[in-house]
Amino acid sequence: MSKRKILVTSALPYANGSIHLGHLVEYIQTDIWVRFQKMQGHEVHYVCADDTHGTPIMLRAEKEGITPEALIARVQKEHERDFAGFHVEFDNYYTTHSPETRHYSEDIYAKLKTAGLITSRAVEQFYDPVKQMFLPDRFIKGECPKCGAKDQYGDNCEACGAAYAPTDLKNPYSAVSGAIPVKKASEHFFFKLSDNRCVDFLRAWTTSGTLQPEAANKMREWLGEAGENKLSDWDISRDAPYFGFEIPDAPGKYFYVWLDAPVGYMGSFRKLCDDKGIDFDEFWQKDSTAELYHFIGKDILYFHALFWPAMLENAGYRTPSKIFAHGFLTVNGEKMSKSRGTFITAESYLQQGLNPEWLRYYYAAKLNATMEDIDLNLEDFVARVNSDLVGKYINIASRASGILHKHFQGKIGNMVLGLHTQGIGSPTENIREYRDVVLEKLVLHADSIARLYEQRQYSAVTRLIMELTDNVNEWWNDLAPWELSKNFSKPKNPGDPELLLRVCSVVIESFRLLTLYIKPILPELTKNAENFLGLDRELKFEDVNLHLSEGHQINPYQHLITRIDPKQIDAMTEANKPALAPTSDTHSRTRHAEAQQHATAPITDIISIDDFTKIDLRVARIVNAEHVEGADKLLKLTLDIGTEQRTVFAGIKSAYDPEKLKGRLTVMVANLAPRKMKFGLSEGMVLAAGDGNGLYLLGPDEGAQPGMRIK
Ligand code: 2FM
Ligand code: ZN
Repeated sequence: MSKRKILVTSALPYANGSIHLGHLVEYIQTDIWVRFQKMQGHEVHYVCADDTHGTPIMLRAEKEGITPEALIARVQKEHERDFAGFHVEFDNYYTTHSPETRHYSEDIYAKLKTAGLITSRAVEQFYDPVKQMFLPDRFIKGECPKCGAKDQYGDNCEACGAAYAPTDLKNPYSAVSGAIPVKKASEHFFFKLSDNRCVDFLRAWTTSGTLQPEAANKMREWLGEAGENKLSDWDISRDAPYFGFEIPDAPGKYFYVWLDAPVGYMGSFRKLCDDKGIDFDEFWQKDSTAELYHFIGKDILYFHALFWPAMLENAGYRTPSKIFAHGFLTVNGEKMSKSRGTFITAESYLQQGLNPEWLRYYYAAKLNATMEDIDLNLEDFVARVNSDLVGKYINIASRASGILHKHFQGKIGNMVLGLHTQGIGSPTENIREYRDVVLEKLVLHADSIARLYEQRQYSAVTRLIMELTDNVNEWWNDLAPWELSKNFSKPKNPGDPELLLRVCSVVIESFRLLTLYIKPILPELTKNAENFLGLDRELKFEDVNLHLSEGHQINPYQHLITRIDPKQIDAMTEANKPALAPTSDTHSRTRHAEAQQHATAPITDIISIDDFTKIDLRVARIVNAEHVEGADKLLKLTLDIGTEQRTVFAGIKSAYDPEKLKGRLTVMVANLAPRKMKFGLSEGMVLAAGDGNGLYLLGPDEGAQPGMRIK
């Protein structure tokens, strides 16, 4: 097999958010593929970077009172920590805010300009007169032009799903300052995607096997039929203030983040080349024979299958060999949700003590080469990992090694069938059968497994590996070597030591093969398994053709993986639920928790009056208050709001004697979704002020009546 040169990327995560389990689908999918290709002996480079530019990052830094450079440096460290925690191993992890990415962005832009593919014209956009900046669509809110729903973003309506331009919104306001935006024109640069050179090229490129069939269909829709031109020119500039690369010879104009983001793939690879002495051009020049693969989510196909190849093609670079798009992650069949505790960050998964390889295995068991969404069903996660990894795969090693160490000093015996025969149906015959069927089958499946990895059919890979694992376990159970082992020390009837040794050796050899097959998915576990097997180097795919030799010493079995305790999953989802008073910024909340104990909490994001009126606040009379058995913070309140009585569990025990509360008026949130608590249903919330040092229940002035609405 000839050695391939392969460059692989995963999408660059934005530098203003944490890595969560949704992101990890892609990085784990890519990492498995890269590890597999490396095990095949190919030259593979896997690069990624933080996607650092744009308005949200600029505003986030401003809000935190730091420079964008400081923000992106901090977040990059966090991202690298999270990826390493899940054994996602890049050859280079970089930032798009780099001299290399700037160089290639400018270079591509200049070449497109020379080719006559850059044009400019005035564009009218919403401008925030208070903040003095143009507002990206996501920073303009208002009423949906179709259904009238309030507080919708400038690009689409979450209530009715309509898509529109921000200028279509009714009563728009700036989500940055709350000001009413004004329309203002400015000069923008465009990449002429509608030019025939782009359209003709894309029509050919998108149908030449570079895309999955579903993706190619989507492209057909976007490109239109032959002769039709549905593509619009792409606006690639943004006005200052903007965090990004200023466009050469255009002061105050910046490359739009999506222009330099994919160039970040080149930038990160360039850095790797400079560090390691790799030939960059060999991978990127027009006639390159190296392979280039981008793993992405299906939501960013447009950028990777239209803009990016068109940019590369017309700037004189090679285009991607293939784009591998995957679907979204759901948890328990639904979108990840903060309130359900299923919006789980990589950091919190690891902090809860969950093993990253559990997730790698589960994702692999679910992934295929399509753009279908995958579901992390938490119950199934526990069952699958415990049954497959612990019950089937690891079990093989622990059982056989125990006997091998007990009777044979941990040394592998001769696995080749010798003269020792006992007739049909005897254990020895079973050994023959095993060698012919089970072990041979294990070796014979090497090609299928490799093909499935190559095609990203990981769920089929895991299914096949588990089928082979089942065969080994069944065979072991049929032969019951533990019975042979019992006889071993009986001097008069030692059983058949040779048979016992052979059974254990063949099973350990099977474990070696299974370890090799599963290695791209479970890098850490298999590294420990290699140590256990006494191998002096890491397994490569061609090692399928070797076997453990007679006399080879294996190490005593040490725990390789533990079972998942469902309680760990409960603890994780609990930990990811928002606290009683959620803020949008968990990160700085924990980071500065201590510092803020005695300080006044900063004012949170601006909301509209409509946001506020969504909360139905009522005067309530506390008709009863009592302690709750087993709860150290809660009091159970019965509240009268005129038309009905409600039960509310309030965390005010430290500050109030229940007797003193009876008869008092207070304020409650009457339309809060009821919450099931350990002690019963809580049907609302009472309002109290507190800064960690004291707790003060709110009360209206005299004369207010239960049920009155507070506005
Ligand atoms: O959608 C995203 O998260 C982008 N940051 C992905 C960029 S991928 C590449 F083009 F840089
Ligand atoms: Zn709507």
